[in-house]
Amino acid sequence: MTSPRTSRFPYAKGPDGIRRLGYGADYNPEQWPREVWEEDVRLMREAGVNIVSLAIFSWARIQPTADTWDFGWLDEVMDLLHAGGIGVDLATATASPPPWLTTAHPEILPVTATGETVWPGARQHWRPTSPVFREHALRLVRELATRYADHPALVAWHVSNELGCHNVYDFSDDAADAFRAWLRRRYTTLEALNHAWGTAFWSQRYSDWGQILPPRLAASHPNPTQQLDFKRFSSDALKSHLLAERELLGELTPEVPVTTNFMVMSGIKAMDYADWADAVDFVANDHYVVPGPQDRDELSFSANLTSGIAGHRPWFLMEHSTSAVNWQPVNVAKRPGELARDSLLHVAHGADAVCFFQWRQSAAGAEKYHSAMVPHAGADSALFRAVVDLGGTLEALAPIAGTEREPARVAVLFDWESWWSAEHDSHPTSRLDYHCEALDWYSALLRLGIRADIVPAHRTDICAYDVVIAPVLHMVSQEVSKNLTRYAENGGHLITTYFSGIVDENDHIWLGGHPGALRELLGIRIEEFGPLLDGETADLVLEASDGTATGSLWTDRIDVTGPDVAVLARYRTGAYAGRPAVTRRSTGGGTASYVSTRLGVEGLAGLLPTLLAPAEVASELPEAARGLVELAVRRDAHHRYLFLVNRGGTPVDLPAMAGEVLVGPAADGGPVLAPHEVVVLRQQAPGSVGAEHGDCTG
Ligand code: GLA
Ligand code: GLA
Repeated sequence: MTSPRTSRFPYAKGPDGIRRLGYGADYNPEQWPREVWEEDVRLMREAGVNIVSLAIFSWARIQPTADTWDFGWLDEVMDLLHAGGIGVDLATATASPPPWLTTAHPEILPVTATGETVWPGARQHWRPTSPVFREHALRLVRELATRYADHPALVAWHVSNELGCHNVYDFSDDAADAFRAWLRRRYTTLEALNHAWGTAFWSQRYSDWGQILPPRLAASHPNPTQQLDFKRFSSDALKSHLLAERELLGELTPEVPVTTNFMVMSGIKAMDYADWADAVDFVANDHYVVPGPQDRDELSFSANLTSGIAGHRPWFLMEHSTSAVNWQPVNVAKRPGELARDSLLHVAHGADAVCFFQWRQSAAGAEKYHSAMVPHAGADSALFRAVVDLGGTLEALAPIAGTEREPARVAVLFDWESWWSAEHDSHPTSRLDYHCEALDWYSALLRLGIRADIVPAHRTDICAYDVVIAPVLHMVSQEVSKNLTRYAENGGHLITTYFSGIVDENDHIWLGGHPGALRELLGIRIEEFGPLLDGETADLVLEASDGTATGSLWTDRIDVTGPDVAVLARYRTGAYAGRPAVTRRSTGGGTASYVSTRLGVEGLAGLLPTLLAPAEVASELPEAARGLVELAVRRDAHHRYLFLVNRGGTPVDLPAMAGEVLVGPAADGGPVLAPHEVVVLRQQAPGSVGAEHGDCTG
């Protein structure tokens, strides 16, 4: 799954020599006069900070012209931090090329699909495939790595910053050349490319590699497989940049672990992080809350998925915010308690470091209204006091450092290629939202108090799970189809939804009735999709209970074709009234269920008990706490660590939950959680948890 390298985590050690959770921020001392630096280190110590990410946007300061270098200030900051006992996750500083470079080499600037140049003035204005940019970036990496190789403050390398945040899709001539080279590696022959891209359609047949372009602005819908391959290529192009920096760092400082900050969060779709996990020594993630009804579910989902990407090994929360950000339409301040609660929710899902953007709130620049650990008001502020408190809490959680997440019995599969392909243009509906559907399933599980792991679809041993939920698994290859079939036949319980199993890896329809790749397994056949107009709904009746549910977005015209298929719900209204809406086929020892419409959190929470019944999965929480409290578990050989997070605004009593209280209020007879409060309990580890299936790979 992930390489063993992902265990090279840069732990700080306490005076007792024992590992600590990391705590810190992006530190941008170049924005401040020298006098401030000493105060920074003093306050960092007060807050319990033990690691900072340094020099992320320092290229123009370190290399003021093509042939001059200025390391004096950075030497001084590194020394000051080291003297303060603070480790440095040193950036390679390549995220934002300086004006001298873009003036001398405007050919490194990205180009949009409509042919416009992306000019300097913000950041990340570089083409991932520019050989000129690569050369200058690697020169900088070499200088930095050579200079600081033996500096005692250096604990990790931070390659670039949020690769692809602003520059993932570049349509320049460099990108066109690199895209062709990538396609040659993928397809070898033009014949194979013409087949995969379905170029018989609309007279798109290529007779020479040189004719192929990125999907630049076109007169109508660009070729879907061309779009898909360009997405694959663009993710790979950035990964190549990461690997190029990484390789050089590996030569110069083989002992120092390398990472880069991923952006596993809603709205960030272009980087296939499951595929990037092997390129780093430990997974790092940035996460920002976007306010909304499911905002903390989304936080939990993203942290959980980051853990899945990291193979359930500890990962590093490189950035989140102490309070408001500056880039949403309205930037909401966090309420008291949310800073700690949000941080601990990441720790619950495997983060062994909690860091923020940024240490000291900027006085100038585009992010001056973005919160930080030290706000504009200074250290005499409620925010800084909350930061100091969190430092104390993380210190108390030292025993967590290095523990794994305990796997749940239920997995929700997440697949970037299905995300990309399901949301392409020219489809039955443009309203489908892959991330939203996956999040709704997770929210419904949270409501029922059922633990689940969000895991990358293709890098996970699904046999380890009793239940696998695959929302909108649109792209299913022959191999995946076989794997899912084996899983269900060997006792696993698969649940999938509308628009799953429709296309192969080339985005070609599986013919003969939908969902072609899963038709046999599910025992159903769909002749026609019935997408719903905005505001239109279809009512369902649940067979077992006579209960009802309401579908939106999508319906399917389903015929039951296979043996042992039970209809769990039927449409009561709409074009398919009377026909099946939710089905379940019993396979060998397992089941394969299909949900043909969008039910939303409410509807899924109503249906899930029926879907989960054959697997006998139930909540581990006391009944009164279900939906109000989120449970996540970490463990080592000797202990289980239960994180109990109060999700809402009311106190919750947890009478049955026993254990030594590491964090939170101790109380005889079980903790009482205040609104937004988190309790961490330590228990002796029992035997293994969760049922085992037979080998479903054979
Ligand atoms: C990203 C970047 C940071 C900063 C924050 C603001 O995470 O990496 O440099 O811009 O966003 O939220
Ligand atoms: C037009 C075009 C056809 C096809 C249809 C689709 O009529 O001439 O080639 O694209 O639209 O509705």
